[in-house]
Amino acid sequence: MKQPSRAVHAGRELGARSPLAPDLSPAAVHVYTDLDDYDAVAKGERPGHYYGRNSNSNREMLERAVADLEGAEAGLATGSGMAALHATMLALAPRPATIVATRELYGGTMALLKQDFEPAGYEIHFVDLSDLDAVKRALDGAGLALAETITNPLCRVPDIESIATMARERGVPFLVDNTFASPILCRPLDLGATAVMHSATKYIGGHSDLVAGVAVGSAAAIGSARARSVRTGTTLAPFDAWLGLRGLRTLDVRMRRHSDNSIALARAMQHMPGVARVHHPLLEGSPSFAVASRLMPEGVGGMMAFDLEGGRAAVQRMLSRFELVAFAASLGGVETTISYPEITSHRSLTPQERAELGVTPGTVRLSVGIEDAGDIIDDFAQALAV
Ligand SMILES: Cc1ncc(COP(=O)(O)O)c(C=O)c1O
Repeated sequence: MKQPSRAVHAGRELGARSPLAPDLSPAAVHVYTDLDDYDAVAKGERPGHYYGRNSNSNREMLERAVADLEGAEAGLATGSGMAALHATMLALAPRPATIVATRELYGGTMALLKQDFEPAGYEIHFVDLSDLDAVKRALDGAGLALAETITNPLCRVPDIESIATMARERGVPFLVDNTFASPILCRPLDLGATAVMHSATKYIGGHSDLVAGVAVGSAAAIGSARARSVRTGTTLAPFDAWLGLRGLRTLDVRMRRHSDNSIALARAMQHMPGVARVHHPLLEGSPSFAVASRLMPEGVGGMMAFDLEGGRAAVQRMLSRFELVAFAASLGGVETTISYPEITSHRSLTPQERAELGVTPGTVRLSVGIEDAGDIIDDFAQALAV
């Protein structure tokens, strides 16, 4: 099956009289009449569910579907992307070790590393992933490498294929946050990564009505992450899993529309007044153009950014003029939204730290939705008109 068909069908088997849309199973616990049967299910030797924190039919369908789309053996669905990341990091690096991470990490992940992993004895080594020699040096002796397929907010695309090769040569597990690309546009396991996680809150859910996470990888790695998630009680609730699977069914068409709309807007935006710079991996002249074209030939989704002259006042002026676009500190929904990294994802950094990452007081991150491209372009054009 190709990805568009997988997105529609993965995770479940239909038989005679099956409901075409999955039943919702909110049961916290299942009844057994045979002790050996319970024992076999609890040991994982027989399929079935016994307690909702351990497993649930809706969660299992979502886990199987995302694993299938990512080309993985197993999946784990959690109550948020952060929970998926945390459980998977501990599964891959259970004892204090050096973690090599991109310096452009999502702010929540940065906080997890600095406020939870560092005090627990892990050493965090932040690197510029576009400098492959620096990555190679940092990987020597490391216990885990962590990257994002597309960075936030400037939408750079690291060469995760080369990083995966270097990590594998050194026996370092490599975890990729594939939230921005989705398995439709990039499959990091095919490029050599050890495991992949998603904030399913974003593109997988797709409708700004769900907070969830998914991790996929080998049965051994995900089994270990699952055990951690079960022990700490971060597994995903049934209705949220149901919503995640419902979102996934349209992921392929949405990602293609997001991709088409974002590049159309990026091109148009280059000629809009007050726009100093547009960041989109597939714009000619982007530092990521070659890598993005190779690793994500079908598009890069809806994420892009731009720098506005005039800083915060100019951003506020644009915001107050929007008719269609909304300001919201998340991404990946069907609607076009903007985020302002200075007070959202990058608020914990100093102005100098932001400047080092290329985030200026005029930097605006966009999550381009699936509306008509012309309508989105028109809204930015009127909001930025002098
Ligand atoms: C790239 C990335 N990874 C992880 C997360 C965390 O996901 P969640 O908010 O679902 O915990 C986010 C949330 O914004 C994100 O953008």
